[in-house]
Amino acid sequence: MTFHHQIYLQPMTIHFPPDFAFGTSTSAYQIETAFEHDWVGVKARDGNTFDRTTDHELRIEEDAGIISSLAPNYRMGLMWSRLQRGPFEEFNQEARDHYHRLLTRLHEKNVSIMMVLHHFANPKWFVEKGGWEKSANIPMFIDFAEKVVKEFGNYVKQWNTFNEPNLYVSMGWMTGEFPPFKKNIFKATRVITNIGQAHEEAYAVIKKYFPAHPVGISYNCTVFSHENILGIIPAKFTDYCYMSYPIRKFRSLDFFGMSYYARIGFDPMPVTYILNPEKFKDRPHDDMWEFYPRGLLECMRRFWKEFRKPIIITENGICTGDDPKRVQALSTYLTLVHDALQEGIDVKGYYHWSTWDNFEWSLGPTYQFGLYGVDPKTRERMKKPSADFFRQVAFSKQLDVR
Ligand code: BGC
Repeated sequence: MTFHHQIYLQPMTIHFPPDFAFGTSTSAYQIETAFEHDWVGVKARDGNTFDRTTDHELRIEEDAGIISSLAPNYRMGLMWSRLQRGPFEEFNQEARDHYHRLLTRLHEKNVSIMMVLHHFANPKWFVEKGGWEKSANIPMFIDFAEKVVKEFGNYVKQWNTFNEPNLYVSMGWMTGEFPPFKKNIFKATRVITNIGQAHEEAYAVIKKYFPAHPVGISYNCTVFSHENILGIIPAKFTDYCYMSYPIRKFRSLDFFGMSYYARIGFDPMPVTYILNPEKFKDRPHDDMWEFYPRGLLECMRRFWKEFRKPIIITENGICTGDDPKRVQALSTYLTLVHDALQEGIDVKGYYHWSTWDNFEWSLGPTYQFGLYGVDPKTRERMKKPSADFFRQVAFSKQLDVR
């Protein structure tokens, strides 16, 4: 016993399987200049307006270099509104050429792509037709999906049809924080049903052209718990609405894509650092939520037990301007992923959110998740120490832990 304790107190190195995929992750909307989509002009909490973000479309050479230096895999999306200017239209030539250039550069740099077809934002024309509230609009998205698959599928290794449909519906139709800023549980139910239907159809489209490509979604996993007796029912209800119910709409999944950031307690209201910083005097937190890394392992156990499907961590990270804190968080999270592997959970990969700081939706660009920073005036990229930490783990597939 004493002998074992001594071993564990020594620094040790943990190893990830040779085929384990490390990557970083972005979404086109958060890194490219906004173009005719439903976030254009939205005023963020930090006072910035959703418009120019990180100029990625002007810096693809440099950014492809950054992406390939950090990990062999990259999870990304394309801006639907830039590619398609109306329902069922052919792709805009300029946008198509641009994405071919970007994907070619990434391919030349040996970066494998996980492509996300939908990440929260929609073209204005889609929203004007009723967006996701109308099942009649699903074919418009499927047409976009099929065009992406035909045009760019050769660059792609695996797919996410939808990014975090559970978070998207809850923010857009329950809490009203994301466009279309509604609070209507009936519409929320209709939207998740329509998105589930769109996923099933998009899944079939991808398989028609690339039967061997793994296809899934990214599901936002959050631990909901109670802070006091009054929080028991709200926590359970939220867990049901957010974690248990929406996933049932997605039947065809080759893997379970999981994103994880936080635990949210209820007292009975939700307790987050953004809303109630005064409640975080004695517990770890980042700039948005409680920092509860163990929740990642808890979520992996929960969904492994339920689905027995390979898990890919499609997003995980920490919102902080304090980079040493990010390095520490990464180390903790990756150790927990390794623990899951040791328990026999089939985890296939880990994508860090995010490659560089970007426009954090309704909060704004001062909320930072990146391994690189972006100068707010010049948009110059600045490497953070966490970038070196991550690339070292991503390419060696090993991590020194204490
Ligand atoms: C989203 C990202 C977002 C990140 C941090 C995820 O919910 O997919 O777009 O920036 O979390 O909040």
